[in-house]
Amino acid sequence: MAGEDEGPVALVIGGASGIGEATADELAQQGWRVVVADRDTEGAERVATRIGKTGPAAHWVGVDVTSTSSVEAATRDAAERWNRLDAVIPCAGVIDPSPSDALEDDALLRMLDIHLVGTIRCLRAAFPYLREAAEPAIVAISSVAAHIGTPHRLSYAAAKGGVESVVRTLAVEWAPSGIRINAVAPGWVKTPMIATAIDAGRLDASTLEKLSPFERLAEPVEVARAIAFLASPAASYVSGTTLLVDGALTVRGPWPQGVVPPPVRGHRS
Ligand SMILES: NC(=O)c1ccc[n+]([C@@H]2O[C@H](COP(=O)([O-])OP(=O)(O)OC[C@H]3O[C@@H](n4cnc5c(N)ncnc54)[C@H](O)[C@@H]3O)[C@@H](O)[C@H]2O)c1
Repeated sequence: MAGEDEGPVALVIGGASGIGEATADELAQQGWRVVVADRDTEGAERVATRIGKTGPAAHWVGVDVTSTSSVEAATRDAAERWNRLDAVIPCAGVIDPSPSDALEDDALLRMLDIHLVGTIRCLRAAFPYLREAAEPAIVAISSVAAHIGTPHRLSYAAAKGGVESVVRTLAVEWAPSGIRINAVAPGWVKTPMIATAIDAGRLDASTLEKLSPFERLAEPVEVARAIAFLASPAASYVSGTTLLVDGALTVRGPWPQGVVPPPVRGHRS
């Protein structure tokens, strides 16, 4: 376990809940010192305090990814806490499904601001610190919505597609500074974001479960482990890519669940 003076430092933005919280936990278990940043400051403090009690050092900071000055201040605070910053995981997000023809400018721009511009703000603010690190890495959060048509997710899907373009662009532009950048694209994950939408009747749990051939949602830790791999030096030659963490949801195609193809006539096994 890392103490106050050892271990690489990761900044997890949106770390108070769901995938971000699981990522902070997973990185801490793997020996990282973690800075938990979130708009929900009580949640960020709760997560950092819990992690700190079990061994590795953890710190928290308030941030709103829709504000450049807030992101810059939080990133500076994180980097100065232990005078290093090795990885940044911009994981903040919200969900707001609505029919595309009724999507109003405010809702459209809010979604793009949080998910796409928010990610860019976080990465831009982190660049001067990351380029000083020995093995710097960024893991951004996309979604299967960037890969398959998902009704009522116009602004979200556009933002996540943009996040994957950001990853490809910066992987090339920042490689001379030694910075690797990748994304994960989760399928449906059991987080408070999804639980709230299910409880409000805006999503149907059994429909979501059937989307994956595994017939279940992902646990947050299953995404967190993929993020931790991409953030670690074990992924030292992986950059510019998006890792689907979707239980084969995007590759299932039209084949009916559980149906085995008949043997080909004349084939001897
Ligand atoms: N849960 C899923 O099924 C799923 C699937 C694919 C992608 N994702 C993505 O994963 C990321 C995390 O989602 P989650 O499911 O863990 O959600 P979550 O609601 O559990 O956590 C999101 C966190 O982001 C924080 N946040 C929201 N707006 C913020 C802002 N403006 N500034 C700072 N923090 C802010 C929230 O306070 C919260 O702690 C999001 O980008 C989401 O789009 C989630």
